[in-house]
Order: sequence, then C-alpha cells, then structure tokens
Amino acid sequence: MSKFHDFDVLVIGSGAAGLSLGLKVANHAKVAILSKNKLNEGSTSWAQGGIAAVLDNRDSTESHIEDTMVAGAGLCHRDTVTFVVENGHDAIDWLVDQGVSFTKETTIKKDVFVDGDYHLTKEGGHSFRRVVHATDATGQEVQQSLETQARNHPNITLFENHMTVDLIGDQHPDAAKRRCVGAYVLDTKNNRMDVFRAKTTVLATGGASRVYLYTSNPDGSTGDGIAMAWRFGCRVANMEFNQFHPTCLYHPETRTFLLTEALRGEGAYLRLPDGERFMKRFDERLELAPRDIVARAIDHEMKRLGLDCVYLDISHKDAGFIQEHFPTIYKRCLELGYDLTKQPIPVVPAAHYTCGGIMTGPAGQTDVANLFAIGEVAHTGLHGANRMASNSLLECLVYGHEAAKEILSLIKTEKLFDNIRPWDASRVMDSDEDVVISHNWNELRHFMWDYVGIVRTTRRLERAARRADMLAGEIREYYSHFRVTPDLLELRNLVVVADLIIRSALLRTESRGLHYMLDYPETDPVMDGRDTILRPPRRPLAK
Ligand code: FAD
Ligand code: SIN
Repeated sequence: MSKFHDFDVLVIGSGAAGLSLGLKVANHAKVAILSKNKLNEGSTSWAQGGIAAVLDNRDSTESHIEDTMVAGAGLCHRDTVTFVVENGHDAIDWLVDQGVSFTKETTIKKDVFVDGDYHLTKEGGHSFRRVVHATDATGQEVQQSLETQARNHPNITLFENHMTVDLIGDQHPDAAKRRCVGAYVLDTKNNRMDVFRAKTTVLATGGASRVYLYTSNPDGSTGDGIAMAWRFGCRVANMEFNQFHPTCLYHPETRTFLLTEALRGEGAYLRLPDGERFMKRFDERLELAPRDIVARAIDHEMKRLGLDCVYLDISHKDAGFIQEHFPTIYKRCLELGYDLTKQPIPVVPAAHYTCGGIMTGPAGQTDVANLFAIGEVAHTGLHGANRMASNSLLECLVYGHEAAKEILSLIKTEKLFDNIRPWDASRVMDSDEDVVISHNWNELRHFMWDYVGIVRTTRRLERAARRADMLAGEIREYYSHFRVTPDLLELRNLVVVADLIIRSALLRTESRGLHYMLDYPETDPVMDGRDTILRPPRRPLAK
C-alpha cells in the first residue's frame, strides 16, 4: 500500500542545493528533503577544490565575471553571471554561519600558529586567487555542516533511500496551466511506492555525468531530475556541454578519483611520459587554461602518442606544503602506490559536470508552475559552454537562496492538491530478465564515451542517436511490463539524458567550449549567445 506524505515544500536532493534551500525555508514551512540513497552520496560531498568568491580586496567582482564569461566561450548569460558573482560573499558568510570551517592562512608567531584570512587557491580560468576551500575536502565539510543543521531542524524531515520516480501534475484541463503537486517516490528499503504531496516541489538532483563510461562523479549522477522534468513538460538547454575534468587518477583497479585542479593552481605541471610539459603547445595559460582546453589537449596527446594516460606532477614543491594542502589526495594516492611528493601521478580526463539542464528563471522557476530546479540539474546561464572551476557550489547556494524567497511567498496562497491516485502496479510483474538492464547500462555508457565524448563528429553522433533510440524503445517496453527497481529507473533516466545530449550536439554545427566537432572545427560567431533549447513533445500529464 502506498503511504501519503504531506509537506509545504518537497525538496528532491540532499546536496548543497537541496540542503541550503531546505534550511532557508524551514523556519516558515514544513519541508521534506529526499535522497535516493544516503544523504551524503551526491557530488557535493566529493567536491575538492572549493568555492569561488571575491573575498580579497585586491580581487574584484568584475574580474570574476569576466573570467567566467571567457571560460563560458560566448554562451554565459551576463546578467546571471553578475548576479551569482555579486552574491558570492554572502553565500560564503552564510556557510560559515552554518558551521563550515574553511582553511585559513596561518602564520607562526612566537611558535604559535595564528589564523589569518581565508587561504584562497587558484584554478583554471581564474585570473586571481579566489577559491575558498577546506583543504582538499571542501564538499565534505559543506555537506556535513548543512546536514547537521538539517537534522537538527524541527521542520525538516529527511528521507534517505527514497527515490523519486516521476512528478505529479494536477488535472487542469489546459495542459499549459497544470501545476506540479508532488511526486511518486520509491521507498527502496521497504520496496513501496509512496506519494509525496506538496505545495511546491524542488528538483535538486545533481548532474548526469554517469551517462559516460568514465566519470569523476558518484554513482547517483544519473540525470534523474533532468529526465523527470523533460517527461513533465519542461524545456532543457545546452545539454551538449558536458564537462570533462582533465585530471582523474588513472588506475586500472580503482574507480575514478579526482586530482583537484587546485594542484595545478598551486603549481603542478602536466607532463608526457618523457617529461615534456606539453600545455605550452596548446595555450599560453598552460596548465591553468580553462578545463575544456586542457582536457582536449590531453585527449589529443593520448591519441597522438597512443598513451593510456598523461602525468600530473607537483613533486617539485615542498613535501610539507603538499601534505598540508592536499591531505586527502596525498593519502589516497599513497594507498594506491603513488607518492604525490615524489613522483608524477598518471591521470586521464573523465566526465565531470553537466553544464546544461532544466531551463530556469531568476529564482529557479521551471516551465511548470510550482516546480523549481536548482544546482547542477538546472540551466541558469551561468556556465555557458564551459563551467569555470568552483563556480558550481556557488551557483547551488545562490539559487538555493533565491528559490527559497520565491517559494516562501508562493506557499502562502497555495493549497495541497488532494486528488492524487496511488501508484498503480496492478499490471506489472517482477522482472525475470535483469540482464537487459545491466547490458543496456553498459552499452549506453560505452557508446556515449566513444561517440559523444571530448571530440565528436556528425557521423559518430548519428551512430549514437540510432543506438540511443533503440535502447529507449527496449527500456520503454521493459518499464511497462516489470516492477520498477532503482537500476531500471536510473537507466530509464540515463537514456533520456543521452538522447538529449546527442540531439543538442547534432544541432550545434560548430565547435565551442566543451563541444568540439571535427567536421565543424571553428566557432561560428552567428551562434554567439545562442543556447540550444529543446522543447518536450507534450506538456505535463496528470497521472
Ligand atoms: P548533488 O550534490 O549531486 O546532490 C544530488 C542529490 O539528489 C543527492 O542527494 C541524490 O541522492 C539526490 N537524487 C538524485 N536523483 C534522485 C531521485 N531520483 N530521487 C531522490 N533523490 C535523488 N564544484 C565546485 O564548485 N567546486 C569544487 O571543488 C568541485 N569539485 C568537485 C569534485 C568532484 C569529484 C565532483 C564529482 C564534483 C565537483 N564539483 C565541484 C561539482 C559540484 O560538486 C556539484 O556540481 C554540486 O555538488 C552539485 O550539487 P547539487 O546539490 O546540485 O547535487
Ligand atoms: C576540482 O577541484 O578540480 C574540481 C573543481 C570543480 O569542479 O569546480
């Protein structure tokens, strides 16, 4: 039997975006925060480098804005960039109020360590040191602090292991006027489909980088929010711009582990096996060029020389400095047999960040009334064709704040919709063919890596489109016959996301930022400022 849960605000996602929004509305609203697995299993906990904000008097908002615009290769929305950057300082202050402890400059006075201002690091594309961080485990510090606040708030109920399947619309006869009134949610521990009714619903479900075979992301980055919103009638934008992080540890026996860009910010070099610092042949900013350029340069060199990896080398820096600034990475590498202080570390690029997403307004509004999207799942116009490092957590916080204000005013007049039917599972049975799911998971992520990766061609994209289409058909059929499981739900969402990425990539007949086409190698100035917008075939349907 389905269980019904009633809330003012339903937040789907418990990373930086979802938790910050939840905390900001909770003094005035009853809030549910959902996570499909443990609360801390989203990308937020994995963030290493830090959060970009103008905190040094010698830096300026103009400089942060210009750096973001340059990295975004002509597609950032200047108004969004300005808004986010101008709110950076407040966002950091709020985090500190929530208990987040950022690394400070320390000086030694009379043998005693004295804390000074925040230690600011540098990453690719930033022309100034402006990344505030908690050593090399910034995300963990942010996640833990926000989680502690949320657990202690009497108006917040946290639901771990609750996976949202689809959004629910009211039954307004005019599809364009339908509102979001809640969601069907699979309680994965009790194997029960619950109904969450809410005055407003917020998608804070993170990115979709698991659509690729190799990714820096945790397992849950399967684009659920983007797929749900698409099925529900929301437009998506710029899905072709999936960011590949240049430096993930290359180790055949372990899952991908990120080596933060802050290593390069603190002086690490990229080298070929013979020791050459090859970035000089690609960009005058060398190792600190924006990510798209560095990832493409590595891909180029690996293909040219038939290499499995290139090398990241910070061993020329003082060992104490490395251990103090990068303790997590130092320890992990050591466990895997590499000493960061003594040797170059093998690295490869891996899918890292979804720059596009659900189209949103200035407070996270989507195309459907009472449905919001914030964080990596959303397209706000901040990142353009290539996100600048450490602008993502900032975006989560700034839009968490803006959406919270809008939601608080909205729920004053909204009422719960009480005519929702329970989930109907009367016509499905338990699967006897799980191999279809595992096979299609692998196939999808392989062809996305091979055909829709760092370097693309029209022919490869068309090939990928045919395969995605075939898988979509199989999965639709499977979904209509068998009881849902988390793996099936994720695969169903990944196929939608893959299709959106491929279709967007085919529409962009140029090379720009993260989208590099061998048959259209130039940037087309006619496409400056032109987002790739996909419209869903239909408006939201009531269940
Ligand atoms: P997430 O933190 O990914 O949270 C998503 C949440 O949604 C999870 O709780 C998940 O359980 C839930 N969810 C998803 N689908 C469902 C569903 N169907 N039902 C219910 N719940 C669901 N950015 C920076 O700015 N600085 C950095 O230094 C940085 N370093 C990074 C390092 C790594 C290794 C990675 C992977 C990313 C990094 N990023 C960094 C990017 C940044 O971490 C993410 O963009 C950001 O944390 C996204 O936050 P979010 O709240 O939108 O989503
Ligand atoms: C990193 O630390 O290199 C990741 C930063 C980011 O993705 O913003």
